[in-house]
Amino acid sequence: MNAALASLRAGAERRLPAAVLNYLEGAAGDGLSARANRAAFDRIPIVPRPLAAVAGGDTRVTLFGRTYQHPLLLAPVAYQRLFHPDGECAGALAAQAQGGAMVVSTLASLPWKEIQAAHDGGAWFQLYWQGGRAATSEVLARARADGFSVLVFTVDAPVKEATFALPPGVAAVNVREQVAPPTGASAVFDGWMAIAPTWEDFAWLRARWDGPLILKGILHPDDARCAVALGADGIVVSNHGGRVLDGAPASLDALPGIVAAVGARVPVLLDSGVRSGADAFRALALGATAVLIGRPYVWGLASDGARGVAQAIRILRDELEMTMALAGCRRLTDIHAAPAAEDFTPPPV
Ligand code: FNR
Repeated sequence: MNAALASLRAGAERRLPAAVLNYLEGAAGDGLSARANRAAFDRIPIVPRPLAAVAGGDTRVTLFGRTYQHPLLLAPVAYQRLFHPDGECAGALAAQAQGGAMVVSTLASLPWKEIQAAHDGGAWFQLYWQGGRAATSEVLARARADGFSVLVFTVDAPVKEATFALPPGVAAVNVREQVAPPTGASAVFDGWMAIAPTWEDFAWLRARWDGPLILKGILHPDDARCAVALGADGIVVSNHGGRVLDGAPASLDALPGIVAAVGARVPVLLDSGVRSGADAFRALALGATAVLIGRPYVWGLASDGARGVAQAIRILRDELEMTMALAGCRRLTDIHAAPAAEDFTPPPV
């Protein structure tokens, strides 16, 4: 990892109480999926292409009608006042200043409206199902009223186990307490899964939300196909940073199959394990349109608030530019994992 990013991580480790650090860095089970994420990136070589004319290049990307300066979005992360008193507003400011976008969690610890204001109206909203359609509908109406138009529906974490007690002053201030699951023979099937969303609920959601709707937490190509058939405008291939189902494949390993299934129709984004601009390059080489980063920007947040988040984004942006330059890519669309073409024609000189 880049020394500057490692120093932000060390800053977070110094500043955060052990329980908070554990919540941030934690992975499900034995950490198989979290390790798989890293290993998957490490396996993808980046082939240098010297002498390519890359002057005047850029990292711009257009997503859902907006052009961003780079393809590094801030992933939704809950309860950010755990990490810094400025909470989610710090990330929103930094994302905006860096010409990108932040996805704001349902479980944000500051009012959505304030975060959206810090982002000049450009933040995206991440939805967790609220146990039923009426409560979800109410959340959607408020998100819309607070100025969000891009909706990211996270579907890979239907069972929310209390991981640790939130300290006083930190809470999901925008939503009511999670509804208690009903009881039955099985706490999972008759309890948690009875209040979890289904494909029918996704179709319902699609009909209710008139802006771009993206499904986050997809790892199977058939689920991506189903999402697009039901009207999804984008997919985030994610294993939630290895935090939910231990044994889930690395997002990067699942990416090519999902790009093959739906990549021609909608943008496919990826998160889980991106730790450098070179990792972003690898994901784009395998067909992603953009990536989201989770823990790395929280290291910046914990170290130095908005400045730290901006620094984390800048570090990854600079690395992405350097990787592109060395790999002979002037634009994101030049990034391909394709082997040498058989019908190669040399460039005119
Ligand atoms: C998350 N993630 C997450 N996702 C989501 O959709 N809503 C949420 O509220 C949260 N909360 C959350 C808290 C913390 C502390 C972490 C680390 C992660 C998952 C997040 O959006 C993203 O999928 C992963 O963090 C990406 O992996 P990396 O970049 O952290 O490896």
